[in-house]
Amino acid sequence: MTINIALLGFGTVGSGLPGLLLDNQQKLGMILNQKIVISKILLRDQETINRVKKDGFDYPFVLSMDEILQDDSISIVVELMGRLEPAKTYISQALSAGKSVVTANKDLLAIHGRELRALARENHVALYYEAAVAGGIPILRTLANSYASDKITRLLGVVNGTSNFMMSKMVEESWSYDEALRVAQELGYAESDPTNDVDGIDAGYKLAILSEFAFGMSLSASEVQHSGIREIDKSDVEIAQQLGYVIKLVGEIVEVESGIFAEVSPTFIPKTHPLSSVNGVMNAVFIESLGIGESMFYGPGAGQKPTITSVLADIIRVVKRMNDGTIGKSFNEYSRETKLARPED
Ligand code: NDP
Ligand code: HSE
Repeated sequence: MTINIALLGFGTVGSGLPGLLLDNQQKLGMILNQKIVISKILLRDQETINRVKKDGFDYPFVLSMDEILQDDSISIVVELMGRLEPAKTYISQALSAGKSVVTANKDLLAIHGRELRALARENHVALYYEAAVAGGIPILRTLANSYASDKITRLLGVVNGTSNFMMSKMVEESWSYDEALRVAQELGYAESDPTNDVDGIDAGYKLAILSEFAFGMSLSASEVQHSGIREIDKSDVEIAQQLGYVIKLVGEIVEVESGIFAEVSPTFIPKTHPLSSVNGVMNAVFIESLGIGESMFYGPGAGQKPTITSVLADIIRVVKRMNDGTIGKSFNEYSRETKLARPED
C-alpha cells in the first residue's frame, strides 16, 4: 500500500526529503509495511520548476495548492516553506480538508499554534512539528511523553544553531561577526532572513512552543522577552573567559508566582555547567524537574539532514496513527468501534 504525501517548499530542508525517503525505503517498508511517496510538490513558479528539474529532480511539481487540496489520495501535507503566509492559509486548508500536517515552521506555531492545533483536533487529523524546536533533537515528544509524570521547574535552552555557531567561531577562530553569519547562511543553518536568528526572535519562538510542552502553559511569542548577539564583541568574550564563564544566547523558562516567565538573552554560563560546552550548530535543552532532577538533551539544532530526519520521523508517526485508526475518523466513530480511550499524542 502507498501513502501519498505532498510537499510545500523545496529549499534547504524540503529538498532533502526525496533522498531521505530513498535511503530509508527498506526500513520504512519494514516498519510500516507501506511505501511513502511524494506525489506532489508545490513550487513558487514555472521558473523554479525549470531550475529544480535542471538540478535533476523530476517530480510532479504543481503551482497551485488547490491541486493538492483536491487530491483525495494525499493524506499528509509537509510544509517547509517557512514564514507566516501563505503557510498558515495552506496548513489551515489542508487540516480542514482532513489531511494531517507536518511542519518545521516555528514562527507559525509560536504565533498561531493554538488555533492550528484546535483545527487539527476538530478535523481528527494530526499536526506535528518536532523539527520546529532544536532541529534534530526529539525534545517535544520527550517532554510530552517522558516528562508527563514529572514537574519541570526550570528549562534552559541553547536553541538557535546559527547564533551559537557564530559565537563559537568568533571565539575559537576569531572570525568576524559578518564572516560567521555568511558561513552559517551557506551551511543552511540561518533563516532566509537571519534577523530572527541573531536578535533572539527565533529562540523566543522556540521557547513559546517549549512552554506548552514543558509547563503545559502556552505563552504567546510576544510574551517572551528577547535580546540577541549583535552587541557582543570580542572583549566581552575575553572578560567572560578570564572570569571562568562563556557567553551563550540562552533561552530560559522559569516558574513564577503568576505562572511562567520566559526570556532569551546573552548569558554568562560558568564553564562547569554542561551548557557551556554546547558549541557550533549544536543545541541543548537543560531541564530541572522535581522527579528526574537535572537532565540535558543535546544534538544538532539546524541543517538539512538533522531537520529533515526529524520531519520524516513525524511523517512516520502520522502514518502509524492512521494505521491504528486514532486519526482520520471522528473520535465518537473511533471509540464506538474500538471501545478504547482516545490516546493523547
Ligand atoms: P528555505 O528558504 O531554504 O526554503 C523554503 C522554500 O520554500 C524556498 O525554496 C522558497 O522558495 C519556498 N517557498 C516559499 N514560499 C513559497 C510559496 N508561496 N510557494 C512555493 N514555494 C515557496 O528555508 P529552509 O528550508 O531553511 O526552512 C524551511 C522551514 O524549516 C522554515 O520554517 C524554517 O524555519 C524551518 N527550519 C529550518 C531549519 C534549517 O536548518 N534550515 C531547521 C529547523 C527548521 P523561494 O526560494 O522562491 O522563496
Ligand atoms: N535558523 C534556525 C537556527 C534553524 O539556526 O537554529 C533551526 O530552527
